Amino acid sequence: MSEVVQVAPFDFVIVGGTGDLTMRKLLPAFYQRFRAGQIPDNARIIGLARALMTPEQYRDKSEQALRGFLPPETLCETTLSAFLKLLDYVHLDATHAQADWSELISRLSDTSRIRVFYIATAPDLYTQAAESFYSQNLITQKSRIVLEKPIGTDLKSAEEINRNIARFFPEHAIFRIDHYLGKETVQNLLALRFANPMIERSWNCNTISHVQITAAETVGVGSRGPYYDVSGALRDMVQNHLLQVLAVITMEPPITFQASDLRNEKLKMLRALKPFTPEDVTENTVRARYIEGQINGEPVDGYLEDLGSRESDTETFVALRTEIRTPRWAGVPFYLRTGKRLPKKTSEIVVQFRPQPWPIFTKPPRPGRLVIRIQPDEGISFVVSAKDPDHDGFELREAALDVSFSDAFRTRYPDSYEHLLMDTVQGDPVMFIRRDEVVASWEWVEPILEGWQQGLRPLETYHAGNWGPASSGELLKRDGFSWHEDMD
Ligand code: BG6
Repeated sequence: MSEVVQVAPFDFVIVGGTGDLTMRKLLPAFYQRFRAGQIPDNARIIGLARALMTPEQYRDKSEQALRGFLPPETLCETTLSAFLKLLDYVHLDATHAQADWSELISRLSDTSRIRVFYIATAPDLYTQAAESFYSQNLITQKSRIVLEKPIGTDLKSAEEINRNIARFFPEHAIFRIDHYLGKETVQNLLALRFANPMIERSWNCNTISHVQITAAETVGVGSRGPYYDVSGALRDMVQNHLLQVLAVITMEPPITFQASDLRNEKLKMLRALKPFTPEDVTENTVRARYIEGQINGEPVDGYLEDLGSRESDTETFVALRTEIRTPRWAGVPFYLRTGKRLPKKTSEIVVQFRPQPWPIFTKPPRPGRLVIRIQPDEGISFVVSAKDPDHDGFELREAALDVSFSDAFRTRYPDSYEHLLMDTVQGDPVMFIRRDEVVASWEWVEPILEGWQQGLRPLETYHAGNWGPASSGELLKRDGFSWHEDMD
């Protein structure tokens, strides 16, 4: 049974309160925590947006979204109607200091409560929104600000946002969210590595030959085209989610699990990543865009049709090969890959172990591998060689020791936003990105962006429903490896 400790009453202000993220992720996550008893009845969630709407209409809109997005088995009518009472709405453009702020100010009259400002908008509006809260005197001792990734679109804009937000909020009150860090399985990597000495002792270049990190999606860009086309997969997924996962699986054990210790260790890994030279950009990156194809047997359009444009230089698929310059990881390649309109939705880490140093079997076994499924079907598979019982002689066959966490623990797996929203209310920054981590990530990504701009790696295409272009497989083939789905 999980133990739930109720948080103190809070006012949670969402800039972009009618947007897709709020409806699809934030409100369902709040509902689940309310249902679990973690949110008190006198907490308030105040949506801010430019749409003219009464609080009543906002609750109706939210109710529809909740009915659509919540898993039906968690929808309880009594809980839903109690939860909707927490919701409020103020029609306000929060990036406009000259707008009429009186309604919001009157709603936030109790300055003793925890106050969270969640900016769920494009990053170029973060500063204006924070400045407005400041100039309206709304930032109290117990206030925090939550910024969605990506922080900026390159190193310069990220540093500018960091500098500007720091004018209004101290670093300990700034929560830069990367929802991958809220995923139960990403947090579980800490347990897997640091609570199991057997695993941690093999976690190095002597035992591990290479590591693959994949975040694959079947969806296309949908209605997010305008955002996505200026972002692309490198900024949207690699700079944040994939680098954070990489940092967690490679970092040294932190001295404690306190925010500063854990984040110091992640930062070291981000800084230890081998920088991309122009030659590396050509050799070790792949960028591509989906064209029409089939997903689950259904025909789907290409990116340009989805975008409604005839031109774009934006990638919806990236594959990279990198290395980490530390004694633990010397010479171990790390392959990162992400893409839209791939054959299935899966995020996983594959840790491939080295072969036996001396071949005592006539047909040497394939070295084992650990497959960590971040989603869906969160779990771990340890693929080992076993004696093949169907064979007369002594032949080997692969078998998987497989644990599905939801079966093992018989529990509902919370959405990543559930953890993270409650952490912001409790003021616990451990699973959020520190300012210097953002900078280190952009510093590593920047030469790739520059190289691509200089045409060092042309944009390729792949049919929707494939695992990206053939050159993605070549990245590994050159080193004698293959992507997980191609390992037979
Ligand atoms: C978001 C990206 O951060 O993560 C989206 O902006 C992407 O483009 C999403 O679809 C993937 O998240 P998840 O949790 O479904 O892997």
